[in-house]
Amino acid sequence: MSDEIKSIGVLTGGGDAPGLNAVIRAVTKTAINRYGWSVIGIEDGFEGLLGQTMIRPLTLDSVRGLLPLGGTILGATSRGHFSVLPPSIEDLRRDPFYKEAIDNLARLGIDALIVIGGDGSQSIAYNFHQLGTRIVGVPKTIDNDLAGTELTFGFITALSIATEAIDRLHTTAESHDRVIVIEVMGRNTGWIAVQSGLAGGADVILIPEIPFSIEKVVAKIIEREQAGRKFSIVVVAEGAFPAGGSRVYQTGGKRLGGIGQVVADDIERLTGKETRVVVLGHLQRGGQPKPFDRLLASSFGSAAVDAVAGRCYGCMVALRAGEVVTIPLSEAVGAIKTVPPRGYLVRTARNIGVCFGD
Ligand code: F6P
Repeated sequence: MSDEIKSIGVLTGGGDAPGLNAVIRAVTKTAINRYGWSVIGIEDGFEGLLGQTMIRPLTLDSVRGLLPLGGTILGATSRGHFSVLPPSIEDLRRDPFYKEAIDNLARLGIDALIVIGGDGSQSIAYNFHQLGTRIVGVPKTIDNDLAGTELTFGFITALSIATEAIDRLHTTAESHDRVIVIEVMGRNTGWIAVQSGLAGGADVILIPEIPFSIEKVVAKIIEREQAGRKFSIVVVAEGAFPAGGSRVYQTGGKRLGGIGQVVADDIERLTGKETRVVVLGHLQRGGQPKPFDRLLASSFGSAAVDAVAGRCYGCMVALRAGEVVTIPLSEAVGAIKTVPPRGYLVRTARNIGVCFGD
């Protein structure tokens, strides 16, 4: 393989997040305008590299209008043929799917690949890097749980949607003297919960990083009642769980979800207060990215192409101290970024009276 770059591939892996299309646009425009390369979009994540392959050329014309568009024009797949954590490099070398994908990349004349995705996709990207593919990662997830970057695009949009929902639920909770429990996404981290809870003025915030006691939650609601506040807002991260208990999964046992209902049932039983539950679900992921996510997505996409031009392979673009930088992919995979229980967000919330149920 010559060192020269003429053509790059780009794919989106895992679930969608607002801003994916803005990255695709920035990658395409930077590659064409600044470096004169051609760009090939690979459809349905890494799966598009198998068999006959599923690809489409990306041109200045085809990325027109993508900046504010939610979802991903390239499609995203959550499950696929590529193992995230192969037992060893030898296993990886023997893996027929990786081999087929690498052969197809060569056949398509793709000199380097930009992978836009969360921890699972970046782990697969790292595997390709170990096998010699020229890879640059772009971190994506509404959960903001990717290690190595202070923010992922998609998070701020999800945060805005969750905060707006809490604002709306506040007025109806207060009008009816009810408790409203809002379950938000975030997988095994509480970034969306703690930040939307703080921004929306929640009374109780439950996150996976701080296992909770339902008695403490109930005590907070009763304390408010006695102070004349006859309603309460409880924000629960989907991954939150009681101390000594376990996470709640939807039917089928793979996807988190349902802790909001469990908490709401307990509150109603223990306080006698009418309690409602709202699960925000995929509303947090769909639709237009907020301006900040458009900016971050564009900056990440553009920086990823610069990284390819600078032969910085096996790296991921990241936001650190207000600057877009590149870090080794190895720093981003294998560990998630969780909410520090003694960090400024939790400290602020506690100072103003928010209960974490601990
Ligand atoms: O990682 C993003 C996320 O939206 C999580 O917050 C959530 O747990 C999961 O994906 C939902 O996955 P799916 O779209 O497969 O239901």
